[in-house]
Amino acid sequence: MKIGIIGAGNIGGNLAKLFAEAGHEIAIANSRGAETLDDFSKEIGDNVDPMEIEDAAKFGEIVLVAIPFGEYKTLPADALANKIVIDAGNYYPDRDGTFEEIENNKITSSELVAGHLKDSTIVKAFNTIWFEHLKTQGDKDLPFGDRRVIFVCGDDSDAKHIVSQLIREIGFGAYDTGSLSEGGKTQAVGSAIYNRNLTVGEVDAVLQSGY
Ligand SMILES: NC(=O)c1ccc[n+]([C@@H]2O[C@H](COP(=O)([O-])OP(=O)(O)OC[C@H]3O[C@@H](n4cnc5c(N)ncnc54)[C@H](OP(=O)(O)O)[C@@H]3O)[C@@H](O)[C@H]2O)c1
Repeated sequence: MKIGIIGAGNIGGNLAKLFAEAGHEIAIANSRGAETLDDFSKEIGDNVDPMEIEDAAKFGEIVLVAIPFGEYKTLPADALANKIVIDAGNYYPDRDGTFEEIENNKITSSELVAGHLKDSTIVKAFNTIWFEHLKTQGDKDLPFGDRRVIFVCGDDSDAKHIVSQLIREIGFGAYDTGSLSEGGKTQAVGSAIYNRNLTVGEVDAVLQSGY
């Protein structure tokens, strides 16, 4: 599959490597320009190309966004139209500025992203796992229930299924927390599952107990 990645840091950079190792074609972009990613992409392999943001967005059949959430309005909505967009972002007010509607639980950060990318299909995923765990904890030999969980949410079941398949290919197990609104809250910073080192099999008990 052709995967565009916008944001080449802890999350975007490591997922570029994992998706490339799984055999996908990757286009990766950051804020400073494609030439700044030449060395990085060469290290990973022939199937990773540095591009400008808009070109990476157009390249991907599916596009991962892994930038500071507060930058979401800079994403190229036209280039991302009619695509599945994976939003790995989290809202941190110290970094992103204060968004009153998120603070008041009226909306989730991914719904704001979806409002900007109004012709894209948003799936929130990879936002609850620390990048160091993302690098090391995928294990394709483990049975599904014993795998480290990656949560997904969104309003389109087919899109969630495709993203869950990608998660499975890199050795993790996907768990669907529901819609972008409900699941977005379940997956938000500070929730019971945020940055918790859980297997798929452990999730139900944690969600039921709320801790
Ligand atoms: N760190 C984690 O463990 C972790 C885990 C889960 C989710 N997250 C979330 O994932 C997102 C990315 O986190 P990260 O730790 O990967 O960040 P990071 O290491 O700081 O990397 C951010 C990347 O985004 C690029 N970028 C910044 N603004 C951009 C823009 N307007 N357009 C395109 N690219 C832009 C940066 O490019 P330049 O370097 O050129 O500026 C950099 O490549 C955040 O929302 C974070 O909260 C992080």
